[in-house]
Parts: sequence; C-alpha cells; structure tokens
Amino acid sequence: MSIDVRNVSFFYNRGTSLEKHALENVSFSIEKGEFVLIGGEVGSGKSTLIRHLNGLIKPQSGSITVNGMDVRNKGVRSKVSLLMQYPQKQLFGKTVYEDICFGPSNFGLKGDALAKQVRDALKLVGLDEGVSALSPFSLSGGQMRLVALAGVLAMNPEYLVMDEPTSGLDPENRYLLLSTLSKLHSSGISIVVVSHQICELLPHAEKVIILKNGCIDFIGTPKEYLMSVSSPLPEITSLMKDLRLEGFNVRDDILTVDDAFLEISNALRSRGAKQNG
Ligand SMILES: Nc1ncnc2c1ncn2[C@@H]1O[C@H](COP(=O)(O)OP(=O)(O)OP(=O)(O)O)[C@@H](O)[C@H]1O
Ligand SMILES: [Mg+2]
Repeated sequence: MSIDVRNVSFFYNRGTSLEKHALENVSFSIEKGEFVLIGGEVGSGKSTLIRHLNGLIKPQSGSITVNGMDVRNKGVRSKVSLLMQYPQKQLFGKTVYEDICFGPSNFGLKGDALAKQVRDALKLVGLDEGVSALSPFSLSGGQMRLVALAGVLAMNPEYLVMDEPTSGLDPENRYLLLSTLSKLHSSGISIVVVSHQICELLPHAEKVIILKNGCIDFIGTPKEYLMSVSSPLPEITSLMKDLRLEGFNVRDDILTVDDAFLEISNALRSRGAKQNG
C-alpha cells in the first residue's frame, strides 16, 4: 500500500509564451503510515506536486498510483485528502457544520453518525463545538485553517496531504496542530506535509523530500537531511553541535529534547566516571 509517483513532469500554460516547467521527472513513494515532509524554496513546485497526489492536477507525463489505483480514478479522493495552502479557497458552507459534513455526507453518512463525525473532527483540531453554527468566513485565518483541516479529517483519509498547515497559526494552535498530526500518524494515517518550517516538522518526519526548480534535490531520512545541510538546523540539533564543538562526547544528529536529555545525561555520566576513576 503506497502512493507511487513515477517520472512526473508538469507545465503550466504549456505551448504558450507563459509556459512554466513546474515539475521535472519527479519520482518517489509514500508508504502507508509514513510521515513525509516536503520542503524547498518559494516556487520550487511543492504545491503543484501535492495537488497531483489526489488527482486535483492530472499528470501530463509519468504516472501516479494510490494503493495501485491510477490517480485519475475518482475513488482516489476518498483515500487521499488534501488541505490546500489557502484554506479560505477550500471553505464554502453557510456554516462550519455544513462545511465539515460535506465530505462524509457525500460518502453516505447521515443523521447522528454524521453529527458525531463533525464533533469528533472539531475536537481533533481543538475547535470549540460552538463554532459549528458560525459562518466559516466570520472566523480568523487560523481558525479557517483548522475548520478546513477538520473537513478533510472528517473523511477518515488513509493519506492526509497538507500544504503549509501551520502557517498563520499562533504558537498554541501550531503546537496543537503538530500534536494532532502526531496522533493521526500514530493511528496509522500517512501524513504528507509541505512546509517552509522544516525544523519544526523534522522531529515528526520519517522521510524528507526537498524540491528545487521542480526537481527532487534531496530525498532521505531526517538524519540524512541534517547531515546534508549546514543551516537552518533545529535549535536542539544546533545546541548538540555546539556541545560537541566544546568537547562533549554527544551525537549531533539529535532531533528531540528527550533524546538530547538522554544523550547529555550519558555524556555527563561518562565524564563523571572518568574523573572518579
Ligand atoms: N496557476 C499557475 N499558472 C502559472 N504558473 C504557475 C501557476 N501556479 C504555479 N505556477 C508556477 O509554477 C512554479 C511552482 O509553483 P508552486 O506553487 O508549485 O511552488 P511552491 O513551491 O508551492 O511555492 P510556495 O513556496 O510559494 O508555495 C512557480 O514558478 C510558479 O510561479
Ligand atoms: Mg505552495
């Protein structure tokens, strides 16, 4: 079970003077249950690429399959949910409730089961049930983003693909969103996130893909990514590198505070043992 992208290329305004080669011969896989982080400079093709993953954009050349099914097949939409870069483009309901229940009701959910699905989705993204009756357009940018996320979560996707999901959120909502993504990932959902904030997502990711001018510039694990770049690094990784430069025998490919704590504790313990012995 996976999404397989093979030799995909894409041009905007093909054959005109405005032709733009946005993706060039891109190949990679997203395994079922994997957490994939997609980065790259402004205009490198990230949004164009992920809009291909649920068939919103059809590949002009190459192929994409989802669990073996061609992405052109409409059935793919129930497996791959896409949260777009600008949530206001994705919202349309008169109320938040109407917006969130659109997807699941299209798949046949009704009555109490539908209402419960909406409630659960709101809870997952940390929004108060009271917003259900409001117009999505009366909400703040950050709240709109969370409503759009609740809308895609209500579809119970196998693959959740998001374009800059944390942009425009305050620190509390960023934290909430990242922990929601972790929870969803632990429950077996594949998560694909496009972000400029590589550092805040690296600890969660299993695979990192970096695009450059529409081509894959890097693909590997977060630790391989850390080894391949000099900056920017997550703060905790920078701290470990600094400690290493100061002579502490610690690993400098650390991504989480918990791992750093263990590593520093071990280094201090072995220093102490050497001094005592
Ligand atoms: N609708 C469009 N028509 C023409 N060109 C487009 C269109 N959308 C994107 N492009 C061009 O295709 C290239 C890739 O754009 P894309 O939006 O995929 O990049 P991105 O990596 O998502 O950028 P950002 O980080 O700014 O979101 C850019 O050069 C962009 O100008
Ligand atoms: Mg984009």
